[in-house]
Amino acid sequence: MSRPLLSARNIHLSYTTTSGFLRKKVIASTKAVDGVSFDIFPGETVGLVGGSGSGKSTLARIVSRLIEPDQGEVWFDGELLTEVSPDRMRLFRRDIQVVFQDPLHSLNPRRTVGDSIARPLLNFSMPKKAALAKAESLMELVGLDPAATSRYPHEFSGGQCQRIAIARALALEPRLLILDEPVSALDVSVQAQILNLLKELQSKLDIAYLFVSHDLGIVRYMCDRTLVMYRGQILEAGRSNDIHKLPAHPFTRNFLDTILTMDGDERWLNAAAAIEDVEEGRIDGKGCVYHAACTHLLPQCKYTTPLLKSIDGSRSVACHLYEEETGFCPSDLNAKYEGATSCKSKS
Ligand SMILES: Nc1ncnc2c1ncn2[C@@H]1O[C@H](COP(=O)(O)OP(=O)(O)OP(=O)(O)O)[C@@H](O)[C@H]1O
Ligand code: SF4
Ligand SMILES: [Mg+2]
Repeated sequence: MSRPLLSARNIHLSYTTTSGFLRKKVIASTKAVDGVSFDIFPGETVGLVGGSGSGKSTLARIVSRLIEPDQGEVWFDGELLTEVSPDRMRLFRRDIQVVFQDPLHSLNPRRTVGDSIARPLLNFSMPKKAALAKAESLMELVGLDPAATSRYPHEFSGGQCQRIAIARALALEPRLLILDEPVSALDVSVQAQILNLLKELQSKLDIAYLFVSHDLGIVRYMCDRTLVMYRGQILEAGRSNDIHKLPAHPFTRNFLDTILTMDGDERWLNAAAAIEDVEEGRIDGKGCVYHAACTHLLPQCKYTTPLLKSIDGSRSVACHLYEEETGFCPSDLNAKYEGATSCKSKS
């Protein structure tokens, strides 16, 4: 296997709310990312999925170097980004670009779209004429009329604005694109067009994606591998199809079950509400983050944090059910899923 393009190792970040003189008194602290590690290989799409507030955007911002972690390392192409010089970091910024959820707000309303797309090129000293010509070819690449570069964002639909934001992100020919909920602000009919455009671009440009989403269905369609996040931790990681067919972590199963039983636009709001987000009972931050909502609770779940460990070579799960001595496997958890055979009954 090739070397990872990006590696995140033991990333932690807490947000603190302060008050008082010089804002020195910490009145609240939220652990947004809690010891996360993962790799992205060249040209692959990794999905980061989880409910609202699970830490997806924070993690995406940390790996794109928009915010600093409290602890942990981010490696890109063999170099430790958390320690490179500002000059070197400026070069790496070309390689990692971000597309945000809200296309209209991510574009400057006072700039023509051609100017917005050309801006990163101008920042890297490309002459203006060449940068504007490249902006036109990028418009064409994302399926828009190159002659429309002189228009302003408000003259385009939401889907078109997202195409423009993608064109701008591609201007510097990055090797990794971080897509934070790139279709969730769009109509369902437009979502499919943007997803297909992203797939097409990936096969043309051989670019890797970190695809952040609430939607396991979209992640399954888009992503080779999926990371499932809950309360700042990755609880399950594996091939998207495997996770969708036979989720191994009790949280993933609950998440998937909730989604499968809901229809329409409200499903994500409902899913977020149905996945109870409770923490009481963890002692000194130890124990499983999901234990208060888990129906498979074991005695150690409250006191010992389960580590993300490989269970079958391609899947990793952070759950005490899968300790070596139990002989537990995903089909034991998912007996009702079609085709699932218990590991215990096999032996
Ligand atoms: N700037 C901030 N200051 C304080 N707390 C924050 C800040 N940004 C995020 N948080 C908190 O950190 C946690 C993780 O937030 P984050 O936005 O990363 O989650 P998310 O998974 O992207 O959620 P969503 O799906 O709603 O976008 C949440 O509890 C959130 O309230
Ligand atoms: S570690 Fe325990 S509480 Fe957590 S998901 Fe597994 S069985 Fe449930
Ligand atoms: Mg988010």
